Amino acid sequence: MSDNPTRIYGDVTQLEYDDLQSFFENIAHNSPKTNNYIHGATMYQADDIALLRNQYESELVQSKIDFNNKRVFEVGCGTGRWAQNLCKLIKSYLGIDFSPELIRSAQTLNIGDHCKFQVMPANNLESDKLIIPPPFDIIICSGICVYLNDADLATLIKQFTSLLAANGIIYLREPISTLDRRMTLKDFYSTELATLYHGIYRTDAEYKTLFAKHENLQLLTEAPLYDKKMHDRQETRHKYYIFTKLKQAN
Ligand SMILES: C[S@@+](CC[C@H](N)C(=O)[O-])C[C@H]1O[C@@H](n2cnc3c(N)ncnc32)[C@H](O)[C@@H]1O
Repeated sequence: MSDNPTRIYGDVTQLEYDDLQSFFENIAHNSPKTNNYIHGATMYQADDIALLRNQYESELVQSKIDFNNKRVFEVGCGTGRWAQNLCKLIKSYLGIDFSPELIRSAQTLNIGDHCKFQVMPANNLESDKLIIPPPFDIIICSGICVYLNDADLATLIKQFTSLLAANGIIYLREPISTLDRRMTLKDFYSTELATLYHGIYRTDAEYKTLFAKHENLQLLTEAPLYDKKMHDRQETRHKYYIFTKLKQAN
């Protein structure tokens, strides 16, 4: 596998956003639109596993973060999994995604007027055009950083610091490289998905360095997301991090 040129170890390689957008548009287009099961498409899992994983993650996150009456913003919201998980607790929710077809899927959930979805790329996030304006109490960034090039990810994290209210929370959850360096898949033919796949699996240290550039963001919690039973990859694994925005000193 290591001499497969579509697996790049260590080097920084740029992903093409057009390729990624087509990938997600196809996923959305080919997935069943039957309410509860739509999330399997963006979790790349069969429906039953997707449901189990979602329930596990949702309970874990709600035990770590207080969502009651909070204003939530999600970047790369996909089919609206988090909106559906949290809609009964929160004050408001805005999810953005660059895939119009995934946003249409999310809108079919019909989970209430306090939850809104908007087409917008994270690599060109225009905060003055958001249909629910900042500040937000909680930002969810779940499985999207893997699709952003380094410079755009750095810009996005900087934007988080102004989109968040004081004491606000960031839930970051990504597949990371378990090697000592990043792994990039570019034009990689995935037999599981039967299509070309692209993504940057950064190391834990790379994520920590990116966030550490912002003195007002403090890491509160970090842990692997799934236990060994639910984890099925060799070179990557899911990890989550919870950051808080510190109040500025007067
Ligand atoms: C793995 S899915 C995760 C969806 C959702 N956050 C969740 O946890 O269920 C990744 C999502 O990020 C979106 N995405 C990827 N790159 C993006 C970009 N540059 N701008 C906005 N959305 C993006 C995809 O369309 C997809 O919905």
